Amino acid sequence: MTLSSKLRAAVIGVGVGWNHIEGYQTHPNCELVAICDVNPAILKERGDRFNIPESRRFTDYHDVLKSNEVDAISIALPNWLHAPVAIEAFAHGKHVLCEKPLAVSVEAGRRMLEAAHAANKMLMVCYNHRYRPEIVWLKGQIRAGDFGHIYAAKAGWMREGWIPTHGQWFTQKERAGGGALIDLGVHVLDLALWLMGYPKPVTVSGAAFAEFGPRGQKTKPREIKPATFDVDDMGFGFVRFEGGAVLQFESAWASHREPMHDEYFVRLFGSEAGANFYTGAPKGETVVMFKLINDQPSAIVPRLPTSISGHRIAVHHFVDCILNGTPTESPGEHGLIGLQIIEAIYRSSQEGREVVIGS
Ligand SMILES: NC(=O)c1ccc[n+]([C@@H]2O[C@H](COP(=O)([O-])OP(=O)(O)OC[C@H]3O[C@@H](n4cnc5c(N)ncnc54)[C@H](O)[C@@H]3O)[C@@H](O)[C@H]2O)c1
Repeated sequence: MTLSSKLRAAVIGVGVGWNHIEGYQTHPNCELVAICDVNPAILKERGDRFNIPESRRFTDYHDVLKSNEVDAISIALPNWLHAPVAIEAFAHGKHVLCEKPLAVSVEAGRRMLEAAHAANKMLMVCYNHRYRPEIVWLKGQIRAGDFGHIYAAKAGWMREGWIPTHGQWFTQKERAGGGALIDLGVHVLDLALWLMGYPKPVTVSGAAFAEFGPRGQKTKPREIKPATFDVDDMGFGFVRFEGGAVLQFESAWASHREPMHDEYFVRLFGSEAGANFYTGAPKGETVVMFKLINDQPSAIVPRLPTSISGHRIAVHHFVDCILNGTPTESPGEHGLIGLQIIEAIYRSSQEGREVVIGS
């Protein structure tokens, strides 16, 4: 395919998937040819909002995957559907942009990667937070060598009370693969790994808790209680990488702390510089780089452009990579590494010991 032809894309699952619709519609070399959702009400709302003709709205994803009019799909479905839909899509020769987490397990993620390789199609995982201006700036500084080698990082996404209960699948292990760690944690885990250059994880120690979900507390929406809750609502992990770097990592849907608190952060420690990226009340958004200037500890605060949708940038990157025949910077392999670490945290928590990845 050359840049002169347009990529024909479809979005399957239009909850958060509306962001993918917008991404495809705003790309000059892309045509959104189908949207799909099993729920006719949301399909109509999204279809009307984004001016998508009725003939391009589907309730059965098999019809979209079978269509010769579709080159690439976004999967924005509940987690347990990521693997089966992606694998079927590859069998029909489509490229796939999959929402995070890649899958509900390492095993399912591996099957997705195998299917992508067998079909010679792209599997990209949607890590939209990488495209926040602060992260793009930090990555630029790191690529320029300003941090030296990064030997340690801390990352987290901690909320006071936000156990998602819409759709009911988020709190079911079988359908979600996990709780706060796999839902929120996977995003900040990716940011830390991305900024550290995706080092290979070797061992993981961790703990996972479920204090509020089983009691129906701290849900969002407050009035909807989980029918089943067998996942974590808080988790902690400590990861050692090949080469000796380490990452300390935490995430919570719910915890006793300042009301409405929603804190999201990455701290980096490099041989030549450090950094703190922080977003959340009450401090607002911050990115600061720290280094010695004339032997004095100094803080550098960049002037950054206003944020635009990370989803839009991720979707545009996916389209450009397919049209240009270039590899994505967010391959399925990155999604798999996140799952390996999170699964190892669950195992470490159950067994009360450090776990060797792949053992
Ligand atoms: N990247 C991000 O910032 C971000 C944010 C939120 C959610 N997500 C991820 O996106 C995915 C979807 O999350 P959500 O919040 O939109 O969930 P959701 O439950 O609100 O929406 C999923 C949609 O899929 C539809 N659906 C379910 N089964 C289907 C089927 N068999 N065929 C067609 N449609 C079907 C549902 O009707 C629903 O509209 C999850 O994997 C989640 O982790 C990512």
